[in-house]
Amino acid sequence: MILNDRQKLIVNGGRRLEGELRVHGAKNSALPLLSAAVLAHGETVLHNCPMLTDVDAACRILSHIGCKCRRSADTVTVDAANVFGSEIPDNLMREMRSSIVFLGAMLGRMGRCKLSFPGGCELGARPIDLHISALRQMGAEIGEQHGFLECSAPRGLHGAKLVLSFPSVGATENILLAAVTAKGETEIHNAAREPEIVDLADFLTKCGARIKGAGESVIIIDGVPRLEPCEHSVIPDRIAAGTYLCAAAITHGELILTNCRPEHMTGFLQVLEAMGARIYTYGGGKMYFTGKKRLSASPTIRTMPYPGFPTDIQAPFTALCSTANGTSVFVETIFENRFRHIPELVRLGASVKTEGRVCVVEGVRQLSGAKVCAAELRGGAALVTAALAAEGTSEIGGLQFIDRGYESLENALRSIGADVRRI
Ligand code: EPZ
Repeated sequence: MILNDRQKLIVNGGRRLEGELRVHGAKNSALPLLSAAVLAHGETVLHNCPMLTDVDAACRILSHIGCKCRRSADTVTVDAANVFGSEIPDNLMREMRSSIVFLGAMLGRMGRCKLSFPGGCELGARPIDLHISALRQMGAEIGEQHGFLECSAPRGLHGAKLVLSFPSVGATENILLAAVTAKGETEIHNAAREPEIVDLADFLTKCGARIKGAGESVIIIDGVPRLEPCEHSVIPDRIAAGTYLCAAAITHGELILTNCRPEHMTGFLQVLEAMGARIYTYGGGKMYFTGKKRLSASPTIRTMPYPGFPTDIQAPFTALCSTANGTSVFVETIFENRFRHIPELVRLGASVKTEGRVCVVEGVRQLSGAKVCAAELRGGAALVTAALAAEGTSEIGGLQFIDRGYESLENALRSIGADVRRI
């Protein structure tokens, strides 16, 4: 993977953003869907698949185990008729955290899997204990040594009644992928309810799976012997949509978003309205946003599992609140180390203090351009958001993180009036 770690964004801030943006497909849905394609004996077609380096990495993993992957525009085709590999090499696993979601699909298809502990954004420990204990209860034998997981299900996987101590998105996805062709019935209690879970269940159902309750806290899966491929469109990326709204809001702009799903965004749209923004949603995936005046500080924001305030939009919101009128408080309940962008925000003139999982943002009138560097995906998006409002020129490094989750962010922002270029 060519790490574009020498590229930078140059942003001249202070310009109001206004215009129309189409929201790209959801990274956090495309990745589990690409893994699910391993279970279908034939050619799966995924439309609205975002052009992101994480998606490229997932396609490299698929090719490595014998799938034929090809992309034309935003359609990715995966032919998994002859999957032969069951090992994901370390270099491919290290490229992103979500590669762990291949585990359930490969156990379901091949009955065995060897992979190293996943890499990805450093947001804290990010253990996989919930994944492992659930798959063991379904009959998988999982050994962990030298940083590798050796997994096998010699007698196949069987259904189980599983209770998650935390509604983990990845664990829920891995269990779904393992359960759809397991023998018997699987119950997932305290399942994650994210829209990406529903999208994965919709895809698997089209392939012949029998799933009830996706999107709720209890999901029941009745195993079937075999899945056939299907054609599916990835849902829009609610986090990318929210990031664009933060960019419009911090520049007192106005924005029309198309190909979005406002009903997936309620966790933070209501916060934007409480801060003084006006939002109108039309049918057909269209919404209008205007934040012409300086917004007031947000009510205390506590990140929660869906449908609460999403942890992935916390960083862009801390940037937005850094110029709001008043003091905002954030409590990051999902990850233990998700304020790594704060020192860089402070370099841009923000007045922010963090203490453990609490972050206090005191709104200032004006940010000022500076040289900053992203250390992870959403923190990088926060720095771009702040730079758009900062007086003068900012230089943002660490684009290899930003490109994981945003389709050419600079082109999207430039198309609505931002003065930003990649060098
Ligand atoms: C998914 O990560 C998303 N990634 C994350 O988005 C998102 O922040 C997260 O869900 C929460 O919504 C993808 O979908 C590819 P979790 P995931 O399992 O599955 C703990 C982005 O920026 N946990 O719900 O890893 C874990 O440590 C990324 O797009 C365990 O303790 O999230 C974390 O504190 C960042 N044991 C919390 O649960 C486990 O076995 C949430 O993790 C699994 C998780």
